[in-house]
Amino acid sequence: DGRARVLADGNQIPLLALGVWQVPDGPECEKAVRWALEAGYRHIDTAQAYGNEASVGRALRDSGVARQDVFITTKFYPGSRDPEAEAQRSLERLGVESVDLYIVHWPQGGPTWAWDGMQRAHEKGYARSIGISNFSASEVDALLKAAEVAPVVNQVQFSPFEFRRDLLSACEQRGLALEAYSPLGTGRHLSDQRVAEIAERLGRTPAQVLIRWAVQRGLIVLPKSTHRERIEENAKVFDFELTAADMSTLDGLDGTGGTDRALEQTWW
Ligand code: A2P
Repeated sequence: DGRARVLADGNQIPLLALGVWQVPDGPECEKAVRWALEAGYRHIDTAQAYGNEASVGRALRDSGVARQDVFITTKFYPGSRDPEAEAQRSLERLGVESVDLYIVHWPQGGPTWAWDGMQRAHEKGYARSIGISNFSASEVDALLKAAEVAPVVNQVQFSPFEFRRDLLSACEQRGLALEAYSPLGTGRHLSDQRVAEIAERLGRTPAQVLIRWAVQRGLIVLPKSTHRERIEENAKVFDFELTAADMSTLDGLDGTGGTDRALEQTWW
């Protein structure tokens, strides 16, 4: 129904996720995840580097939503040595038997460095799907040449203002779904006049327009918020459509938003 897609390995993934980057472990994270589950989110995106997996797990258990109804993503922190051992630690912190998706957080040590361990984590059943983040098209290709089990997603900074068409088409051609992090430009794009104009005309908010743009392209999108009303607002993107004209106006914003290329470097 346009809320989920099937990955190349056959697993289903909900398009909308709550991202919990920079949300401290503890009540703030637990509340955000709990509110998201109550608002209908069925996908939570965390990472070893975020330090908040325990809160995500606690919120999931407290919510009463069945484990099999929620798609949980975590990411291998490439500063550690062994993705398989780290996956087990993540599962303990999360309090789950497996994650739905386990991602190499960034290509430290080269695009293939962590992949053997990722494949072992997959083989052991710790992760139903495996993927990558912050990989360029050439890094994707280098990994695909060496991989036995191919990555099924690439999670990158992506919005109309960071509209990486070449990377998107390279990923889609090679069977990787693209996941858009910082779809609101960490908040910067919400005040853009051209986004606001579309939002106003549709009776929506700028955040909803930016998230809808991603959903309408079939991307998996991970807006982050710790405020209940914003978490709820960001989920209301499946009851309206952007016209082809509005989509192309938004497409045209690429490179015009004071793109923060340094954002990605904060990971590396
Ligand atoms: P907060 O977490 O305080 O609610 P991105 O997903 O691109 O990284 O953007 C996240 C930033 O945008 C956070 O600072 C978040 O603030 C803010 N934000 C998220 N959703 C909304 C919204 N619907 N309206 C206004 N600001 C939002």
